Amino acid sequence: MEKILVFAAIKMNLEERIKHQPLPRHIAIIMDGNGRWAKGRGKLRVFGHENGTKAVRTAVETCVKLGIEHLTLYAFSTENWNRPKLEVKTLMRLLISSLKKEIDTLQKNNIRLQALGDISSMPPKVFQELTQVMEATKSNSTMTLNLALNYGSRDELTHCMREIAQKIKKNIISIEKIDETVINEHLYSRNLPDVDLLIRTSGEQRISNFLLWQIAYAELYFTDVFWPDFTDQHLYEAIANYQKRERRFGKTSEQLN
Ligand code: FPP
Repeated sequence: MEKILVFAAIKMNLEERIKHQPLPRHIAIIMDGNGRWAKGRGKLRVFGHENGTKAVRTAVETCVKLGIEHLTLYAFSTENWNRPKLEVKTLMRLLISSLKKEIDTLQKNNIRLQALGDISSMPPKVFQELTQVMEATKSNSTMTLNLALNYGSRDELTHCMREIAQKIKKNIISIEKIDETVINEHLYSRNLPDVDLLIRTSGEQRISNFLLWQIAYAELYFTDVFWPDFTDQHLYEAIANYQKRERRFGKTSEQLN
């Protein structure tokens, strides 16, 4: 009993502590380790993804509770199509069922759902469900939940360059007018601020083609925890770690002070 009380007190402390310091506006997460989590339990990889959806719920709830403005989750990459057919099918099924199940919660919590990536080439049922939920939640303003789906940063940049080139060809914009703002406006993430904190679970320390432009000045946080085990406490720890960093954006410490 005593142990439980101490644990609850520590948990509360961390939550309270991070609330009193500047929070990241935009958190992005590479949710990794579902397969290894399942394998460690003698189960199929899809079992890991099923449990991963519970961790998605926790992360969203925690971000809303903290007042985080934007949460971006790497849910399916352009490279993930190369996984075994059953796994891809399961991920698509989980996506559809989560969207159906969570639409009311998104509405109740005033969360806007957006997709980053070429969703037009997702399976029609996924596309339909996604567009429906995005349309229904488009005026919500407490937090944007961005699902990176059929997303790859190189694909995003290629798409962006093509769009800009088309506009130059049609004399809609001139080469001289191309700057960071114009590029931002042509990315899948067009209405999002830069990522402040990028978290990757499972012990891997790489970016895997995720938001390469948007993380230019993000603080990177890697944890060994597998995604299905990632709790609110882990998120608080990541944020507490972020709050200890000095973000210099190319300036010196002295200039910041
Ligand atoms: C990486 O773990 C995880 C994914 C490729 C998919 C993430 C999907 C979910 C958490 C479930 C559905 C999501 C939503 C938004 C409802 P991995 O399979 O690469 O794990 P491993 O590295 O241990 O093999």
